[in-house]
Amino acid sequence: MSVTIRIVSNDTELKEIAELASEIWHECFVDIISEGQIDYMVGMFQSYNAMTRQIINEDYSYYAVRENDELCGYIGVKPEKDKRLFLSKLYLRKDKRGKGIASLMLKNVFDTAREYGNTEVYLTVNKHNDHAIAVYKKIGFKVIEETVKDIGCGYVMDDYIMSFAL
Ligand SMILES: CC(C)(COP(=O)(O)OP(=O)(O)OC[C@H]1O[C@@H](n2cnc3c(N)ncnc32)[C@H](O)[C@@H]1OP(=O)(O)O)[C@@H](O)C(=O)NCCC(=O)NCCS
Repeated sequence: MSVTIRIVSNDTELKEIAELASEIWHECFVDIISEGQIDYMVGMFQSYNAMTRQIINEDYSYYAVRENDELCGYIGVKPEKDKRLFLSKLYLRKDKRGKGIASLMLKNVFDTAREYGNTEVYLTVNKHNDHAIAVYKKIGFKVIEETVKDIGCGYVMDDYIMSFAL
């Protein structure tokens, strides 16, 4: 298995990631939120235009995860105040899960955070996303808060905030 995790530096790759994001979201969240909310959230947070805005205006970085040169996942991070790194996105295509790639992705996030001088990585995860929560707990993240965030159009994000001390 040859896995690479590299920062996204061109539009073509970001467009590929947007396509993969839509595919993964429509597969993994279908039992958790409605199709309408999936479309809405993909448009707001994971579309090519949304990710371009995040990179230009909000200091986000995206990383493409490839196995044998094939795009199979992506990571999105954003450094914040108080030496915290926000792990905004950690997504892997279904057929690539359970193979150790997620742990490589999280190691990459922790390495990036240390390079930025961060002392904490935090994320939000849907309270019903049992597998992701189990993975994060196994790695050492802890639930520090519960939140319900209104994201418009009658939709909410019903999340735990989880934190990992570096
Ligand atoms: C979240 C995600 C990236 C994790 O990737 P994955 O391939 O499923 O994770 P793995 O099965 O490799 O598990 C990672 C680690 O957690 C452990 N783990 C997995 N399930 C576990 C469980 N139920 N209990 C305890 N540990 C568990 C694994 O053993 C592994 O540890 P190891 O590398 O030390 O062996 C992937 O499932 C995904 O993309 N899901 C859909 C999108 C999503 O929900 N993203 C998160 C949004 S916040």
